[in-house]
Amino acid sequence: MSALVIDRIGLLVTNDPTLGEGPLGIIRDAALVFEDGRVAAVERAGAAGDEHVDAGARCVIPGFVDSHTHLVFAGDRADEFAARMAGRPYEAGGIRVTTAATRAAGAEELTALTAGRRAEAARAGITQVEIKSGYGLDVATEKRCCEVARRFTEDVTFLGAHVLPAEFAGRPDAYLDLVCGEMLAACAPFARWIDVFCEEGAFDADQSRRVLVAGRDAGLGLRVHGNQLGLGPGVRLAVEMGAASVDHCTYLDAADVEALAGSETVATFLPAADFSTRQPYPDARRVIDAGATVAIATNCNPGSSYTTAMGFCIALAVRDLRMTIEEALAAATSGGARALRRDDLGRLAPGARADAVLLEAPSYTHLVYRPGVPLVAGTWIEGRRA
Ligand code: NIG
Repeated sequence: MSALVIDRIGLLVTNDPTLGEGPLGIIRDAALVFEDGRVAAVERAGAAGDEHVDAGARCVIPGFVDSHTHLVFAGDRADEFAARMAGRPYEAGGIRVTTAATRAAGAEELTALTAGRRAEAARAGITQVEIKSGYGLDVATEKRCCEVARRFTEDVTFLGAHVLPAEFAGRPDAYLDLVCGEMLAACAPFARWIDVFCEEGAFDADQSRRVLVAGRDAGLGLRVHGNQLGLGPGVRLAVEMGAASVDHCTYLDAADVEALAGSETVATFLPAADFSTRQPYPDARRVIDAGATVAIATNCNPGSSYTTAMGFCIALAVRDLRMTIEEALAAATSGGARALRRDDLGRLAPGARADAVLLEAPSYTHLVYRPGVPLVAGTWIEGRRA
């Protein structure tokens, strides 16, 4: 059992207020000791260990926990993005374009594509990803996507209810029979979560509830895509069903904010999706001030948010969602962990998973102060350099 020490850390964010200053639990001149994939100790600089990494007085933060991605897909929708930038609105129907490409791809190709995106995410400091299916929309492809996703994370989400596939046009109930029956049975062995896109143009409240109930009965935890393109029932349904997270939350009314504030459901903002679809940005300040728990995720997918850059998402969250820098950093780390109901992630305290990021900067403020600059100098996942 050998110990790795990241030493001479100028500013360490632990996300554990019992270990250091303020809500981020900040310690200056610190060292982190990793053993067996876990944080063994948080010490003063100069700690003993078998292997040393010199942080050179730079900043170390907990690895980013990306609680919303769609990394398993084939194809590209750059033309659709360009048309949007020229004035076309975002339409959830673009999902069917990716579905056609994904259905045509085999497991090996999907694995290679996902591996490339996972590696890119690690370079951006993401140490844990949730990965959704949802570009298969038939039993065989949804199962293949869940199986591929399971090679990269234990937080796999079955999203058969993403949109109605073309062959079921006008027959949503027949499609939901499939999703809640054969498709769920094929995907559940690989999944920890079930999700549904509860939005006009996708599934309404009753249809979404049906999906969530079926998933819960199959032993899966619940997640909801809601309130992305307009006001709607998604947030309130997620809270009613005790979902771990409701994601997007771009359009919220007072009842949505009140429901979130009195619940265990995390409001997950996806600012890069609002950026790439030219939606307005949500008012995170209102949600946080009401007392709700929030997260930020990249939502990496080929349609609405083709990025793994969590630093960019943090910068948007501060600049445009009106979070403080500290709130945004917490939302991308401990907030993501809360959204995945993982208490081993999102903090650097003894016993937690040894997931850390060394920044090429003296402080996490630089993530926002230097937007778009790749500031990740090193990523450790379970104590190993990624
Ligand atoms: O989270 N909103 C639904 N699903 C994805 C978009 C997928 C796509 O456009 O391909 C999202 O933004």
